[in-house]
Amino acid sequence: MSTQRLAELPDAVLRLIEKASGPVVDVGTVNAGRNSAIAARVRTTEHKLFVKGLPLDHPWVWTQKREADISPYVRGIAPELDWHVEADGWSLLGFDYVEGGHADFTPGSPDLPAVMTTMARLAEVPAPDIELKDMTHRLRTYVDDPADLSWFEGNSLLHTEWNPHNVIMADGGALFVDWGWASRGAAWIDPALWLLWLIAHGHTPVQAESEAAAHPAWELAPPAGLDALAHVQRRLWDSIAAESEDDWAKPMQRAAHAWDEHRNAVA
Ligand SMILES: Nc1ncnc2c1ncn2[C@@H]1O[C@H](COP(=O)(O)OP(=O)(O)OP(=O)(O)O)[C@@H](O)[C@H]1O
Ligand SMILES: [Mg+2]
Repeated sequence: MSTQRLAELPDAVLRLIEKASGPVVDVGTVNAGRNSAIAARVRTTEHKLFVKGLPLDHPWVWTQKREADISPYVRGIAPELDWHVEADGWSLLGFDYVEGGHADFTPGSPDLPAVMTTMARLAEVPAPDIELKDMTHRLRTYVDDPADLSWFEGNSLLHTEWNPHNVIMADGGALFVDWGWASRGAAWIDPALWLLWLIAHGHTPVQAESEAAAHPAWELAPPAGLDALAHVQRRLWDSIAAESEDDWAKPMQRAAHAWDEHRNAVA
């Protein structure tokens, strides 16, 4: 499901932003991403903000609260959250605006080590005591055998959505945005999910695994757990691609097939 991005901020939203951050002098649209009704660059007299919003009756409005709950645990890993308001029919998050482009995930990109540096910082954050999705629950419908789910258990905070649009290359390094689907699980899952995006951007499975191997938890990844995840991701992306109205998921579906064949092909 994707949500139509609003071209202009509704009056109620502008009023809420002004209450939190002062008079608005300029609003620009942000095109990347597909899930927020509002994603805007907002300049007030004092601040430059990124404002993300969903109507309070939207089925995914819980992701807004999740991002707000996580923000104190990911300082320096994510842009700073200035405020979260739920009023007048809207849930809004106001972040510091970060200047920078999206990460380049193609082979040899200088962004790859920078992304890994931030990922390694995230690997040191234990899952906070807040409501979080659990990887075993998220993946339960895609395993062959429910016993495979035990590979994914763990107490690490995982970002899980490694679309390069969720990685901003800022002056001080890579920052991760879009924490609504953050989850609890085994620490090696994040680099394993990242490598699928690397494959989708031109890496071979061997090259992508070798980039992922720079993650501090990679050596803890049980080979059978990686095999199980590769299989699960193939099913997951098959299902996302089948449900999509457009072709955005196709490269990820192909990447998931390539990784599964690399790990699980019968010789
Ligand atoms: N703090 C920030 N500063 C500058 N730009 C940001 C900031 N946070 C997000 N962005 C930009 O806005 C885009 C959309 O933000 P985000 O990914 O959080 O929401 P979304 O795209 O609607 O969600 P989804 O990716 O699930 O569709 C990002 O891809 C990024 O380009
Ligand atoms: Mg996003």
